[in-house]
Amino acid sequence: MNVIKSVRKMQSYSESIRKRGGKIGFVPTMGFFHEGHLSLMKEARKVADTVVVSIYVNPTQFGPKEDLSKYPRDFDRDLKMAGNVNVDCIFYPSDREMYPAHYQTYVDVEKVTRNLCGLSRPGHFRGVTTVCNKLFNIVKPHFAVFGKKDFQQFISIKRMVDDLNMDLEIIGYPTVREKDGLAMSSRNKYLSGDERQSALSLFKALKVAQKMYSAGEKKSASIITKAEKLIAKAPFTAIDYIKICDAETLKDIASVNDKTVMALAVKVGNTRLIDNHVFGEKLEK
Ligand code: PAJ
Repeated sequence: MNVIKSVRKMQSYSESIRKRGGKIGFVPTMGFFHEGHLSLMKEARKVADTVVVSIYVNPTQFGPKEDLSKYPRDFDRDLKMAGNVNVDCIFYPSDREMYPAHYQTYVDVEKVTRNLCGLSRPGHFRGVTTVCNKLFNIVKPHFAVFGKKDFQQFISIKRMVDDLNMDLEIIGYPTVREKDGLAMSSRNKYLSGDERQSALSLFKALKVAQKMYSAGEKKSASIITKAEKLIAKAPFTAIDYIKICDAETLKDIASVNDKTVMALAVKVGNTRLIDNHVFGEKLEK
């Protein structure tokens, strides 16, 4: 497996693959891999000749009070795991390589980034869309695979790619969960045993919501109230938001249908977790 740290080298590697007609599949990550990340890599493997994975903890998407410095990292372990799923190349740039002195250009996708996590993490999606735009210019993929676990991120990236006529396809991959339903996340590592137990309330709330919807409840407010009660009952939890939105525009919506998403963000102890479910899709462990 190739490990490339320089932007120029990454661009010429990708260029040579493109010249011989190879299709490049790309999975951008911040590392500290779990089965969710690996599933995206396997998905990329299915559609591409060459699979490139980036590992870069992007400072511009972290707020001043967020966990940038303590974000979990283990490059050697990541390298082994990526090797096991036949990744061809890891792009592993430094901050100086990505944001050299005098850097001053950002991409801001407007409406879809303003609701949900955009309310409590101002500037977060501007950092995400900027770094993904840069990574697309560096890796030159034909396909890029994103997890729907970060639903608003997935929608914002698709919006950017459409709006700016970027020449690649964005593929969404369903949320990969632990056996008990907890959505896999690099941040789960922060949870204590008791907090881990409480964190399950997010999945349980989505389950109850889907059950209410299947039984005929269409009022967002009733479903949200029920979910709030369930999560508030679990120890160590503080709800940031629970919302039901149109799954494309991410605008709040009063009545649920098959194209609405329930999205939630909850602090469990000091760890902020997110999860979501599109009504009308499967919700599986
Ligand atoms: P990171 O949190 O490392 O996630 C990398 C990719 O893995 C994202 O597309 C994310 O949605 C996906 N992912 C994470 N947990 C998942 C799960 N349980 N099931 C399915 N997919 C999952 O998201 C980022 O990094 C960054 O914001 C990034 C896009 C790399 C830009 O810096």
